Amino acid sequence: MSRRRSAAEAFEKVPTQVFANSAEAAKELAAEVRKLIETKNKAGKPAVLGMATGSTPVPFYRELIRLHKEEGMSFKNVITFNLDEYYGLNADHPESYARFMADQLFDHIDIPKKNIHIPKGTVPSDQVFAHCREYEEAIDTAGGVDLQILGIGRTGHIGFNEPGSSKESLTRRITLDRITRQDAASDFRGEENVPHFAITMGVGTILRAKKLVLMAWGENKAGIVAKAVEGPVTEAISASFLQDHPDARFFIDAGASRELTRFKLPWLVGPVNWTPRETQRAVCWQSAQMSRPVLKLVDEDYNEHGLSDLLSEQGPAYQLNIRIFNRLQHTITGWPGGKPDADDTYRPERARPFPKRCLVFSPEPQDGVIAIGGTIDRLREQGHDVQVVSLTSGSLRVADSEADKFASTLLELGATAADSAQWKEQTEYARELVRLIEEKGEFGEDPPVLRRLKALILRGELRDAAAAVGLGTDKVVFLDLPFYEKGRYRRFRSSEEDVATVAALLREWKPHQIYLTGDAADPSSVPSICFKVIETALKQCEGEEWIGSCTNWLYRGKEKAFEPHEIDMAVPLSPNQMERKLRALTRYQSLSSLELQTPDLNRAAAAQYDSLGLAEYEAMECFQRWRRV
Ligand code: GLP
Repeated sequence: MSRRRSAAEAFEKVPTQVFANSAEAAKELAAEVRKLIETKNKAGKPAVLGMATGSTPVPFYRELIRLHKEEGMSFKNVITFNLDEYYGLNADHPESYARFMADQLFDHIDIPKKNIHIPKGTVPSDQVFAHCREYEEAIDTAGGVDLQILGIGRTGHIGFNEPGSSKESLTRRITLDRITRQDAASDFRGEENVPHFAITMGVGTILRAKKLVLMAWGENKAGIVAKAVEGPVTEAISASFLQDHPDARFFIDAGASRELTRFKLPWLVGPVNWTPRETQRAVCWQSAQMSRPVLKLVDEDYNEHGLSDLLSEQGPAYQLNIRIFNRLQHTITGWPGGKPDADDTYRPERARPFPKRCLVFSPEPQDGVIAIGGTIDRLREQGHDVQVVSLTSGSLRVADSEADKFASTLLELGATAADSAQWKEQTEYARELVRLIEEKGEFGEDPPVLRRLKALILRGELRDAAAAVGLGTDKVVFLDLPFYEKGRYRRFRSSEEDVATVAALLREWKPHQIYLTGDAADPSSVPSICFKVIETALKQCEGEEWIGSCTNWLYRGKEKAFEPHEIDMAVPLSPNQMERKLRALTRYQSLSSLELQTPDLNRAAAAQYDSLGLAEYEAMECFQRWRRV
């Protein structure tokens, strides 16, 4: 008898399990791997695992290490094959996948070195073909991969099978897609340093595995996950080929599940608990669907789009529309700090106290001003005491060429000064910096002094940007949290030290308002780690007098805007304010233009309100209320 398919499965063409967070998923997968190893070993066979890199599998690898260290799980009889490797990188390069695997897993477990297979990034060009063929043969000789672990790139790639990779493709050298190289830019301190090529298992190689589990975390993976799970099987998204495999599954967290039909349009899948948020989601969706403002929707519109249920509970359309329209209307305010002496019953922020102490947490120096520079501008103008807190130094983001520009200018300044003898020491210092940049070469690690220079460059840029929205230098704080200074992108790990630093700041400031981001981001990303650090710090302050009356506002960075039903406060920007914000963004000279895309999102948010039938503004910065649990 065939199993009855749930309504969600009508859309999802590959089994997809949604976990509360990545740690839960990692735990379940690691337990499965443990069972697999035990079963295979009992049968006298090694377990063959296909390994992936990137930030996604890191929680899974941490759990495997824990199982090994605390519960005696052994990898002596395990053979591994990694998906891919950058072409042109030595195995000991800090960004090579060989090094990544050693750091994140292999150096901490008892797997014999000879059992580890990773494509070599340094095989000479004329031997690449043979190397790839041998890799395929080694997989077959080992008996094939029992369980292949996968992540997913923003282009929908698995391994490095960029769009256009065929279902039959085998291990080979490929050219990396522009988006993939942009995504790796922060790992390599600038896109120009990211290798152009990689050696990757093919889609065909991957699909030969007996079982596959693809993991994805955070809302910036949500769009591509939905396409891979619900869309057509296509070479344009190599992860979609998993739909054709008899034993492939997706393990995702809440953030990455957001675009799946069962969460995005739940009424198409089953009965819905019509909370105010869900109701608003449905009405806004209906309006977008019909390209008609909320107040012009009629009963038939709802009935014909699977929303008759909502209508019978909360209709007729006319009443429902008005309720939602009013709610949307009440989210709009030019007074993000609250309007003093005004009735605040329907305003997002309370009127008193006035003025307020507002803390804007910026995970890296650029994030806060880029995302909510207009709101900062308004708060300050309206008399509030605004402090921008840059949590990390952001130094890993600054390209060598930028550091070189500063060091060379300093060098030239000293050397060409009329009284150059007086500047001898400074000139030597600058010369040393220029030498260090040259010596470490394209892919080398930054020595501490160089990292410091890069941090100072971003500090200066944030101060300039803050000044462009009216904040003085004394209104910008730099915490340089230790987790960032000690780590690398995709592998950061926070500690008690980070939390203590933030908690001390909170206690000193006793804010009335906090602006923060990262709640739904990839758990390994800087915004997400910063969010958790702040959350823990706030927990430590629980019970203190100031905290009960502190409101928390979530904002979004360049990746993903809030949808209309998620917004609790929308702050309109006038054309002049938008211009000031744009001017502020030009101060971030060391960052790529990709970092600076929020003005487009701000304009799109305003356009969205307009099309829902509300007032038409130039741009908007949007926020969601965050209630600590
Ligand atoms: C790279 C890797 C993929 C990985 C992807 C996503 O492209 N070759 O195997 O899935 O990055 O990386 P992350 O997990 O860091 O998001």
